Amino acid sequence: MKVPFFDPSRIYVRYAKEILEATERCLGSGRWILGPEGEALEKELSLREGPATTSGWACCASGTDALILSMRALGLKPGDEVITASHTAIPTIVAIQSVGAIPVFAEIHPKTWVLSVDSILEKITKKTRCVMPVHLYGNMVNMDQLKEALDLHDSPSIAILEDVAQAHGSKLNGRSAGSWSRFSAHSFYPSKNLGAFGDGGAIRTNDANDLRHLQILRNYGQTSRYQMSEHIGMNSRLDELQAAYLRILLRDFQKTAESKKRITRTYLEAFRNLPLVAQSVTPGCDINPHLFVLRTKDMDTRDRMMLHLEGKGVQTLIHYPTPNHLQQPWKTSLRLPETESLASSILSIPMNPWMADAEVEQVIASVVEFYR
Ligand SMILES: Cc1ncc(COP(=O)(O)O)c(C=O)c1O
Repeated sequence: MKVPFFDPSRIYVRYAKEILEATERCLGSGRWILGPEGEALEKELSLREGPATTSGWACCASGTDALILSMRALGLKPGDEVITASHTAIPTIVAIQSVGAIPVFAEIHPKTWVLSVDSILEKITKKTRCVMPVHLYGNMVNMDQLKEALDLHDSPSIAILEDVAQAHGSKLNGRSAGSWSRFSAHSFYPSKNLGAFGDGGAIRTNDANDLRHLQILRNYGQTSRYQMSEHIGMNSRLDELQAAYLRILLRDFQKTAESKKRITRTYLEAFRNLPLVAQSVTPGCDINPHLFVLRTKDMDTRDRMMLHLEGKGVQTLIHYPTPNHLQQPWKTSLRLPETESLASSILSIPMNPWMADAEVEQVIASVVEFYR
């Protein structure tokens, strides 16, 4: 049997009836962009945090745009420095570069694989305007520690902007990922914790003026049709079909999170006695898992395991093989030993709510066999 890493067609099969109904409803309404489905989705995202929440959501075209719109709303200017992880998806860095800011790469914590607060502090200069914690694979940066450290550093001009693309639904000390910063960027890329049937994203904020600002920025900079504000914006709107599909999946969000947690526990138990390392959970974090990533003793073992699993029909990926500070546009003499060592020894195995139990068992048997 072949075990795909992630097969989006299974989501369609599972929800086909609701999806087709929503498609007819949206297309028949004649409102295809910025309409009632998007507004309802924004409200439902907010309500998921409880009735007392003050959160406001502005949906947009992608997670990358959510980062760009947030940085524009923060007023970042060319030459401003943004401290973030090198061990992240390429779009985190592309977004920073897109607003003319300079990505400054900090080191990860060797066990939790997310940004180390100490390393962030070491990278602060007079030009630092923003710190962008990336909550990777579902695990969160220690936000309590980061906020306290920045307060002690007395850096009021440094904004925090969470990249929550991989951790929608995770919590730290009871507080959701994305609620720790003035703006946070979320992705609805199909394989994400809340995935659309195409591209999509959203920004979360707690402030009504900030929300209004984002709504203007995502719609060219217009305050209303054919009326410009003083802000030059962009076109980054979520279409109504995607909003309607996301509302369907949002209803089962808890259920899909639970099934990923169950598979994660099953893997951890099954691999307990193997010479493999899994990501340590940041203390206080309740992870909504996005990926299951294994770390082998070295690159050679990782590459051999990848080939072995491929031979057994199990598709794997590497998130991510080349750290961003070694990618062509950003390459300097900077070395980040923890990041580079991690990138050379990790392997992501299939873990998603649409997997059958037999597939999970096949993945486990194939990994165990590799070490036999
Ligand atoms: C950490 C991280 N940031 C940002 C993004 C960008 O999201 P999108 O693909 O929706 O633009 C992604 C998605 O790949 C991601 O994993």
